[in-house]
Amino acid sequence: MKTNNNIGIIGTGSYLPKKIMTNYDLEKIVDTSDEWIYTRTGIKERRIAEGESTSDLAFKAGLKAIESAGIDRDEIDMIIVATMSPDQPTPATACLVQKKLGCRQIPSFDISAACSGFIYGLSMAYAYISSGLCKKILLIGAEKMSSIIDWEDRSTCVLFGDGAGAVVVGEVDNEGILGFSLGSDGSGAEKLIVPSGGSVLPITKERLEKRENYIKMNGSDIFKFAVKKLPEIANNILKELDMRTEELDYMIPHQANIRIIDSANKKLKLGKEKILVNLNKYGNMSAASIPVALDESIDSKKIKKNDTILLIGFGGGLTWGTSVLKSSI
Ligand code: UT7
Repeated sequence: MKTNNNIGIIGTGSYLPKKIMTNYDLEKIVDTSDEWIYTRTGIKERRIAEGESTSDLAFKAGLKAIESAGIDRDEIDMIIVATMSPDQPTPATACLVQKKLGCRQIPSFDISAACSGFIYGLSMAYAYISSGLCKKILLIGAEKMSSIIDWEDRSTCVLFGDGAGAVVVGEVDNEGILGFSLGSDGSGAEKLIVPSGGSVLPITKERLEKRENYIKMNGSDIFKFAVKKLPEIANNILKELDMRTEELDYMIPHQANIRIIDSANKKLKLGKEKILVNLNKYGNMSAASIPVALDESIDSKKIKKNDTILLIGFGGGLTWGTSVLKSSI
């Protein structure tokens, strides 16, 4: 979908918990090695939140985004939190962020689209603003993945990390967001799942003993899906926007595995220097990975105003989403 409303990102922020867990630390917990983790994924270390919940991480990233936008928190008309590791199934983590921010009693809700959550949220923020229902929206991707991973399962616990990234979406003085493309395929739902804790398998003692309240992932199937989907959806949105790959200044893919990113790059022929990666430092932060990379790249002045950026998310659902935007800051 092509957009034409001068709506874009007017502020960014991120927050990473202080505690660093290296691959060497993981060697002491499960049967793994720094060599296996780094060569198979590109991850060296990740952050782990201790004494902080997802809404704490979200609040801290959100506050920085509001400060970066140079607005008063009462100018925010809506809070959207994309997360697969909410404080609780209910209330929404976004409501807890509203309370922590102490802003007006605005609509606040979570969206569940796993690692594509930030792109889904960006499209919603865009739609609310372009319809005139809101002027400024705080969108946060926040995850405390350490609370939903099985620390006895080496095939998943080495992959994920905690963190939060946020943006304020509003009217901008350049083109801003140029377009979106989103999709899902529920036939792959079981490939990344927390089996117990919902209406199908409510938590029981037996299910806790079977550790069904933690993430189960068919890594190799998701790997194949991502390697195929990433270049496909990137090419699709560029075609829809009538753009060439060379017109992109940067791509921020979801940070799940460096081999997925490298393979996409090979097909897209974008050039390594145009792909922004923070996976080595933070692991897979699901909905937080893209906004954290965006904030750090804007903060370090790597991304400059009017740079053209392709954002790509993919993950559980299965879901995927892309957006192309001109940086407005
Ligand atoms: O966020 C979006 C959703 N997630 C993803 O996009 C993740 C996509 N998948 C992946 O990134 C990769 O599939 C993984 C990193 C999860 C796994 O890499 P892989 O190259 O597909 O490895 P594998 O699952 O095929 O396992 C290869 C071997 C197995 O041993 P055998 O059966 O060959 O003897 C595993 O048991 O590696 C073993 N293994 C490990 N060894 C050491 C699995 N995890 C580990 C580990 N340390 N942590």
